[in-house]
Amino acid sequence: MTLIVDPTQVNATRRADTQSPLIEILAERWSPRAYDKSAVIDEATLTTVLEAARWAPSGNNGQPARFIVARRGSASFVKITDALMGFNKAWADSASVLIVNVAQLPAEGERQNPWARYDLGQSVAHLSIQAQHEGLHTHQMGGFDGAAIAAAFNLTPEQDVVTVTALGVLGDAATLAPELHEREIAPRTRKPLTELLLADD
Ligand SMILES: Cc1cc2nc3c(=O)[nH]c(=O)nc-3n(C[C@H](O)[C@H](O)[C@H](O)COP(=O)(O)O)c2cc1C
Repeated sequence: MTLIVDPTQVNATRRADTQSPLIEILAERWSPRAYDKSAVIDEATLTTVLEAARWAPSGNNGQPARFIVARRGSASFVKITDALMGFNKAWADSASVLIVNVAQLPAEGERQNPWARYDLGQSVAHLSIQAQHEGLHTHQMGGFDGAAIAAAFNLTPEQDVVTVTALGVLGDAATLAPELHEREIAPRTRKPLTELLLADD
């Protein structure tokens, strides 16, 4: 893999400004839109990242997370980029891999699983942290045509397309169109912790 930017320098500006110290990998994770188009993620690293998703906890160990993994250059990659919406089309094809995150829901008549999408999200969170550990970055997306992806990959009605993750090697923000560049360098913010705590006795 070729690193075209020095990640230690970029991470210094993108690192979360936390109120309490976090483990490095959490503090450093962020969602870039500029990826190195020439980077190829080796198969062992990609498997490791997916393995992190596999070992995430899930309700009743039901493991409802399913993934469509598409390497740049593959037919699947094109099907996914075709289904992206709005400004996602302008940047996400620079990632090395696009992963469609699918929740396997129970079939009609089967016991409902209220946690399937929660479990999928947790699986993706584990994947994103492992990716960060491998020197890669991830960017999750909700802006896509789920019906188009379902049709392109012959998914069943129980296979719910929830998000798409871009996975790749950090690229140069200067290559982005002006409005995307602005977002890429904008300060990272969060609500204060006190706003998140509905009760804190
Ligand atoms: C469910 C979900 C959907 C998202 N959809 C999009 C999207 O369609 N396009 C995009 O550029 N970013 C998308 N994002 C990225 C968020 O905007 C980003 O995670 C958030 O601004 C926090 O930034 P950070 O990840 O760098 O901390 C999405 C993130 C999540 C978790």
